[in-house]
Amino acid sequence: MLRVGVLVSGGGTNLQAIIDAVASGKITNAKLEVVISNKKDAYALERAKNNNIEAVCVSPKDYETRDEFNKALMDTIDGYNLDLIVLAGFLVVLPAELTRKYARKIINIHPSLIPSFCGDGFYGLKVHEEALKRGVKVTGATVHFVDEGTDTGPIIFQKAVEVEEGDTPEILQKRVMEQAEWIILPKAINDIANGIIK
Ligand code: GAR
Repeated sequence: MLRVGVLVSGGGTNLQAIIDAVASGKITNAKLEVVISNKKDAYALERAKNNNIEAVCVSPKDYETRDEFNKALMDTIDGYNLDLIVLAGFLVVLPAELTRKYARKIINIHPSLIPSFCGDGFYGLKVHEEALKRGVKVTGATVHFVDEGTDTGPIIFQKAVEVEEGDTPEILQKRVMEQAEWIILPKAINDIANGIIK
């Protein structure tokens, strides 16, 4: 059984897609050990609790320095002996020590077709705002391994989604989630758990 930890910052719809995929058997050989949030009020923590998954908050607000926060985050993660760390809307840049220690054991979902609309400052709705501003006709989502850069690690899956006339960032975000993110993220976890992706 792959021991999986999911890191979140917000609503946790991707976390929910993972929980549902485990329940329905779309993800096998994996167990959700813990959900860790950097925000105390993240609804994702409620989703974890509602599904009997340990829910932990490590907030930068509780530490005087970034280094202390980074250490607390590392210690928390280390405590669960995880085989895979899933960044599901985790809006914190991971310390290099963590990405090195868990090389090829951290994956991230990003709401665009990398290398478009990614890197520092591109997260959540902002990604879709920029895509609409540029007038792209096709966007999508990417699951990739996490390395020391921002959105630079090897790509695992991508799925394209059409932009439609009259889209707002919110409408486009929802379509990208439904048609891409909630599909390719659980699939990546299942494929890693079953040795299809190494
Ligand atoms: C998702 O759209 C995810 O792709 C994005 O944050 C959202 C989290 O939603 N992540 C990034 O932008 C990372 N750069 P959720 O909390 O409902 O899963």
